[in-house]
Amino acid sequence: MPATVIVGLQWGDEGKGKTTDFLAEQVAMVVRYQGGDNAGHTVVSGDEVFKLRLTPSGVLYPHITSVIGNGVVVNPVTLITELDMLTSRGIDVSRVRVSRSAHVIMPYHVALDVANEARLGGSKVGTTGRGIGPTYGDRAWRLGLRMEDLLDRAVLRERIERALPDKNLLLASMGGGSFEVEPLIELAAAWGVRLRDHLDDTTWLVQAALARGEHVLLEGAQGTLLDLDHGSYPYVTSSNPVAGGACTGGGIGPLQVDEVIGVMKAYSTRVGSGPYPTELHDEIGAGIADRGHEFGTVTGRPRRVGWFDAVPLRYAVAVNSVSSIMLNKLDILSGIETIRLCVAYELDGRRVETWPSSGAALSRATPIYEDFAGWEEPIHAFRSLGDLPENARRYVSAVEAHAGVPIVLLSVGPERTQTIERAWRPMRNRPALA
Ligand code: IMP
Repeated sequence: MPATVIVGLQWGDEGKGKTTDFLAEQVAMVVRYQGGDNAGHTVVSGDEVFKLRLTPSGVLYPHITSVIGNGVVVNPVTLITELDMLTSRGIDVSRVRVSRSAHVIMPYHVALDVANEARLGGSKVGTTGRGIGPTYGDRAWRLGLRMEDLLDRAVLRERIERALPDKNLLLASMGGGSFEVEPLIELAAAWGVRLRDHLDDTTWLVQAALARGEHVLLEGAQGTLLDLDHGSYPYVTSSNPVAGGACTGGGIGPLQVDEVIGVMKAYSTRVGSGPYPTELHDEIGAGIADRGHEFGTVTGRPRRVGWFDAVPLRYAVAVNSVSSIMLNKLDILSGIETIRLCVAYELDGRRVETWPSSGAALSRATPIYEDFAGWEEPIHAFRSLGDLPENARRYVSAVEAHAGVPIVLLSVGPERTQTIERAWRPMRNRPALA
């Protein structure tokens, strides 16, 4: 039962879309398991560029069923807009299935997110303003609406009447607007009519595909360091991007996961607030941001940029039980004289090699670097590790040694072909091919 989880090992934006795209040919189903339209990925298919926030990138392939799992929070407006856009560009969206149990982002969730960030001022989280936190909050508080509720006006009324009074009180206290029950019921019922044919019990879809021996890809959004439990709380997102989230949010059991591919960039980026020990504030950082086009897909905000940090890498490999790694954007480091790799922190006068669970501790951490001589030449054209400049190989080997698992795919450019395949699919239960 081949199920592969693709998980970000940093703060998101690691290029997971390219990994999915690379594996797509052999996959029958792609399942998104958490997050919402706070994520964004750009998929290049031939000459066409598609920007997707919610729909799994598998939608571009006629043989793939794209599933939005129960762990995702769905903004129906975003989903409908995306489905319409894809249809208008000739993509068949009939194979997009949305879990009946996925929670709905309501307009008041978005308003609460925005008002709360404004209230927090200088200590804001720097959210994408899409209502992600308030929607997951309502899910935990049992005040949420699920996709299946959109199909029943009586249920909609009951759910909205239950949730709305508190939302309006809270919004008023934060200087936000207010919402009325009737227009919300109308809006939600219209979403239900539009999305009815896409709703499904996706857990059974996934289970049936696995039982048929089909290859299912479970695609995480964001990354391990933004995980609600494992990131530097409160500067995190409100879901579990880690591989465990694929079980709770995708409808599979832990023993059904065959392989976990961790995805990371050759440097790091972060969007939003929160501690970031290896952050660069100099020209080298600006150069990386520029060459790497490091701007948020959803908000357009410039991403913060820094050196690669092996401390959270070791943590991410452990908590995700990563079996192999895709290392992206190595080409962006060409032309940098000295490349720094953070191997430990100095924290309160001590050398620390473990990722601190406390955000406060992390904000006191000073990176301890190992320096590597860089390489001048562009590396877009290389297709084997052996052909890379020696200094590039040294750097990749050092990163791999910290990870403790093989880097099997290495990206040297945005195109699908600009990828070095080092060892193909070294499943946890099978030996590596090379
Ligand atoms: P939220 O997910 O919108 O609540 O934002 C919480 C934190 O996660 C903020 O720091 C965001 O910048 C960050 N975040 C959310 N989605 C992404 C993403 O897709 N890439 C990078 N950062 C993200």
